[in-house]
Parts: sequence; C-alpha cells; structure tokens
Amino acid sequence: MGYSRIAGTGSYLPERVVTNSDLAARIETSDEWIVSRTGIEARHVAADGELTSDLALHAARRALQAAAVEPGDIDLIVVATTTPDMVFPSTACILQSKLGVKQGAAFDVQAVCTGFIYALATADKFVASGASRCALVVGAEVFSRLLDWNDRRTCVLFGDGAGAVVLKPSDAPGIYSTHLYADGSYGHILRVAGGIAEGKVRGNPFLEMDGQAVFKLAVRVLDECSREALEANGFSGSDIDWFVPHQANLRIINATADKMGIPRERVVTTVHRQGNTSAASVPLALDTAVRDGRIRPGHLVLLEGVGGGMTWGSVLLRW
Ligand code: UT7
Repeated sequence: MGYSRIAGTGSYLPERVVTNSDLAARIETSDEWIVSRTGIEARHVAADGELTSDLALHAARRALQAAAVEPGDIDLIVVATTTPDMVFPSTACILQSKLGVKQGAAFDVQAVCTGFIYALATADKFVASGASRCALVVGAEVFSRLLDWNDRRTCVLFGDGAGAVVLKPSDAPGIYSTHLYADGSYGHILRVAGGIAEGKVRGNPFLEMDGQAVFKLAVRVLDECSREALEANGFSGSDIDWFVPHQANLRIINATADKMGIPRERVVTTVHRQGNTSAASVPLALDTAVRDGRIRPGHLVLLEGVGGGMTWGSVLLRW
C-alpha cells in the first residue's frame, strides 16, 4: 500500500450573505447572543434554485485547477452531503455529469457534519490501494433548506457552501491515518426526522437539536479522536502545524484545541463568516488556509469533524 496526498483544494460560497443583524430584524435574537455563544457573525445562503451540485461544481473546478488536473483524469468522485439535489441520482453522479466526467465511480457519503472526513477517509483507501489514480472529494451543503427560519435556537447556526480536494497517489504521506466513529444511540440529539414524501410533509422536516448534549459530546469525542490520530503516528499536539476542525461553534473549537495543547494561532477558523456549513466546513476551512498561504508544504495538518448520527472522525496528513 502506498499513500494518498491532497494535490489541490477549492471552495465556493453562495453570493448572498445573511448577517446576525439581518436575523435580529426578523426573529428574537441579537448579534451579541449569537457571537458570544457561537462566534458566528454571518453565513452564506444559496439562491432559490441553486442546488448542492451547483455549489459542488464551483468548488470542484477550483480544486481541479489548483491540482492541474483535467476532468478526464478523475476516476472517482465522492460527495459528502446531507442535502442531496434529489433522492437519486446521487449528487456525485449529478456532479460527474456537470463536470463532463465519463469514467470511474461516483457516489455520495452521508455522515452529516462529519461527511467530508468520512468521504476523504473512503477516497484515501481507494487511492492508497491503487484502485483510484485521481479522486475528487467534495463536501457540499444547502443546509439553509433544512432550517425553520423562525426557530432562533437553530437557524442562526448554519450556512451553505462547498469545498473540494483532489487526491492522488504518493510514495510518502500524504495522509498518515484516518479514524472514523459513529454511535447511533445518539441519533435523537441532532436530526431531521421528517421530510416531504408523496407531495406531503411527513413529521418535522426541520432540523432539531439538543444543543447542550451535542456540545458536550463534541468536545469529548473530538479530543479522543485527535489524541488517537496523534498517538497512532507518534506525534503530539505540539507537532501540529495546523488544526482544521469542523466549524460549528468557536467555543467547541477553542475547547478542543486547548485540551490538545494546540495554540489558538495554529487553529484555522472560518465559522465567524460562514456559520456551520456541515460537510462543507472542513474543506472550506482547509482551502482558505491553503490559499492564504498558512498551510505550506511539509506542514502537519489535523482535520476533524463531528456531526449527526452521531458521527465523528479525524484525518492526519502531511501537506
Ligand atoms: O455540527 C454539530 C452541530 N451543532 C453544534 O455543534 C451545536 C452545539 N451546541 C451549541 O453550539 C450550543 O449549545 C448552542 C449555541 C446551540 C446554544 O448555546 P447554549 O449556551 O447551550 O444556550 P442554551 O441552549 O442553553 O440557551 C440559553 C438561552 C435559552 O433561554 P432561557 O431558556 O435560558 O431563557 C434559549 O432560549 O438562550 C436562548 N436562545 C437564544 N437567545 C437569543 C437560544 N437561541 C437563541 C438565540 N438568540 N438565537
């Protein structure tokens, strides 16, 4: 077995920005409450008719360009999303068609906010084993469509966006290790239990969350799986050049970094301008730090996520 390594990144945010003040004008909330509890100042919201595959397409094209790869080179597309364009075809197949890719496999992964970590771990196994020569891994969401915009406990937290990476084989790491976990007995603390079937709303089609239960579980499991990733590869928190966590809440991010002994200036945060974009959050943050020159060749980077399921996991890699 060889390794896989990220050869290029890309991301995309919809044009429309909704600030905390915009929300405070409509519902009983305030910029002060949202910023102090979450760190979020604004989020992007997709336009009517703008689909997950549209956001994914923009991000994918930018990643392909950064990796100097043509659509004809791609032999695997994995899309992490909780908000697919339709029941089927998968968003990965729709993206494949929009990119004009005709070869290889394409499928979706559903692990909510851990989706990109799951998708990257999956594609890593294909590339490291030699089954794939060039994989496109995308996290893309229009989470705004799962929200009750009158529910202040949830609508202030999320946003839309997409991030993508191209994975290629490598003789050296690349990706050192991936660790994935799930505990379905926590399904009730973060879920969308209902939906639209046969033209009718069945159950509650909006996101429901026990915020404090999610918060506590997130801080515990992120610490556990980060430690496991470092120990498995003989590193410690002080070896990390960049920590790129799921962007749900600045308090969760800071608590995890503190427990790991990772200084705040080594933590990539985008949550203040983007909110929680679920499966898109890690690749969006990664692309931001790659493009602004913070993440550079040779750096040790720890990615991690936690989300509905509950699911969680990490990817440790050398840039
Ligand atoms: O990818 C994973 C996705 N989810 C998460 O990571 C979320 C994890 N949880 C959290 O981030 C936090 O629990 C929240 C930010 C969701 C909530 O923060 P909290 O400090 O746990 O607040 P709380 O739920 O205990 O609510 C405190 C008060 C309540 O009022 P009362 O009952 O004390 O009178 C809420 O009704 O704040 C009220 N509240 C709000 N007030 C103004 C809840 N949402 C809002 C709001 N604006 N948007």
